[in-house]
Amino acid sequence: TAQRKIRNFAIVAHIDHGKSTLADRILELTDTVSKREMKDQLLDNMDLERERGITIKLNAVQLKYHGKDGVDYVFHLIDTPGHVDFSYEVSRSLAACEGAILVVDATQGIQAQTLANVYLALDDDLEILPVINKVDLPSAEPERVKQEIEDVIGLDTSDAVEISAKTGLNVDKLLEEIVAKIPAPTGEIDAPLKGLVFDSIYDDYRGVVLSVRIFEGVVKAGDRIRLMNSGSEYEVTEVGVNSPKPLPRDFLMAGDVGYLTASIKDITQTRVGDTITLANHPAEKALPGYREMIPMVYAGLYPTDNAKFEDLREALEKLKLNDASLEFEPEVSEALGFGFRCGFLGLLHMDVVQERLEREFNLDLITTAPSVTYHVYLTGGNMVEVENPAEMPDVSSIKSIAEPYVKATIMVPNDYVGAVMKLCQARRGEFVTMEYLDDARVNVIYQMPLSEIIFNFFDKLKSSTKGYASLDYEVDGYHASDLVKVDILLNGDQVDALSFIAHRQFAEERSRDIVRKLKEIIPRQNFEIPVQAAIGSKIIARTNIKAYRKDVTSRIHTGDPDRRAKLLEKQKRGKKRMKAVGKVDIPQEAFMTVLQSD
Ligand code: GTP
Repeated sequence: TAQRKIRNFAIVAHIDHGKSTLADRILELTDTVSKREMKDQLLDNMDLERERGITIKLNAVQLKYHGKDGVDYVFHLIDTPGHVDFSYEVSRSLAACEGAILVVDATQGIQAQTLANVYLALDDDLEILPVINKVDLPSAEPERVKQEIEDVIGLDTSDAVEISAKTGLNVDKLLEEIVAKIPAPTGEIDAPLKGLVFDSIYDDYRGVVLSVRIFEGVVKAGDRIRLMNSGSEYEVTEVGVNSPKPLPRDFLMAGDVGYLTASIKDITQTRVGDTITLANHPAEKALPGYREMIPMVYAGLYPTDNAKFEDLREALEKLKLNDASLEFEPEVSEALGFGFRCGFLGLLHMDVVQERLEREFNLDLITTAPSVTYHVYLTGGNMVEVENPAEMPDVSSIKSIAEPYVKATIMVPNDYVGAVMKLCQARRGEFVTMEYLDDARVNVIYQMPLSEIIFNFFDKLKSSTKGYASLDYEVDGYHASDLVKVDILLNGDQVDALSFIAHRQFAEERSRDIVRKLKEIIPRQNFEIPVQAAIGSKIIARTNIKAYRKDVTSRIHTGDPDRRAKLLEKQKRGKKRMKAVGKVDIPQEAFMTVLQSD
């Protein structure tokens, strides 16, 4: 049957090991895109992905491969992100596939996310094909890396292809390996329809576009489908595949990966992980779906213009469709007005969401410093969850506070173990164990507060190990800590959006640091602004932002009119990302000072 000629696979790897470059070569070799249309990292179609050189979203494409056996095969390739924040995208991609290509950089060997991705693929019972990439580089050590894969992961590497995704060397051999090793899909075509929704996006013209992997049955335009978990029903308007442009098809059948539209306008009714079936001939049981992602960090998002609150809500709803891990609910800040408290999988995720909202939905936003969720035990006996430091209950009613901990696995060459331990210790880490991977590398495992990881830990880790360390972490319960809420006062007024939570031992030092930074960031006004940090009513750090010495505007008036216009224009642009709180203008960077503090 046609299914025997289908191969569904994802490409997984540690960040920068060359997934997207390999996907480019495969697209070229299979003539999916013409030389003229080819550009680097073709599947990273978001501007943001191209600018930063990272994959943020999974991307599925269909390719035709003419095998050496003379058979025409259909490949569905899913490119996935490598950064730990986006592993949710990876797990969703894998659930749509029978196999995974594991790309390992021949100059770097196994890294933390290499392992994390292997575990995800094993969870889904996928066939894993190890591939050694970047063998064109002089520092490549393919033999050593293969041995490492055998020792650490336990995969047979005797057939592992050594490729250069950059030059294209041996990528043709890899395509043959895919045909030979990755199993064809098996679902029944005559059975009731069962399709997994693994991604979705909102399109102004077509409504919601669902990415689906059909496991059983057939679906075509005109069919009435039901989303089994939400219960909603729609008439299919179009089915097709991405190649990489959308290409309508008569039908999608068991084994296919493609897209489906059904004039779905109510975006709250579609969720990734749901199962589609036919309304008049439904499957009995839905597919397993995905586990819900729990956000790791929370931050407030506020439009700089208060009138844009409803626009922000709509934008968040649409973005959530394309990013199922995003969570949000309305909140009010005395300083910033109406906004949303949003949950993110990590800081990069937060950064990406803010940028996507600004670019794709044309909004100007202020983001507050991220916070983890604290469990606050009250003297009355209740426990409340606090995601916003400003909402920490009064000290007098708190019995104890617990914070989320993670088990951090840091993979590092032997020489840097000392540096890593020093860093972890300074971040309140507790040593758990050390595992030697081979005679050159170690997995150092620490239990640490999540809040310490989200505050530039990764950058510090990289800089103290010359970039050699890689990090993976998973949540590991709550532990009681001696924490305090620190308030920031500007001109005597408490700014709720600047409050943060710190360990008592570090609160003073951190406050001094933040107060000093705020002094640099907040523009001078024509009056002096006291900046203070306080725990309750006790001031623990203070400084003053001096007033202007001269009236600057009058000087501009007398100056060159061109220059004045430029200055005003510059001021206007600067203003956009500022929020007036009382009489003081606070720029976006001020809200992030907590993050930059060492
Ligand atoms: P993310 O999508 O961000 O997870 O990264 P990725 O794994 O997709 O890596 P990407 O394809 O963006 O490649 C990372 C860098 O390695 C780029 O600068 C590539 O040009 C380079 N690169 C990829 N493959 C090769 C290779 O075979 N040889 C050499 N010399 N460089 C390569």
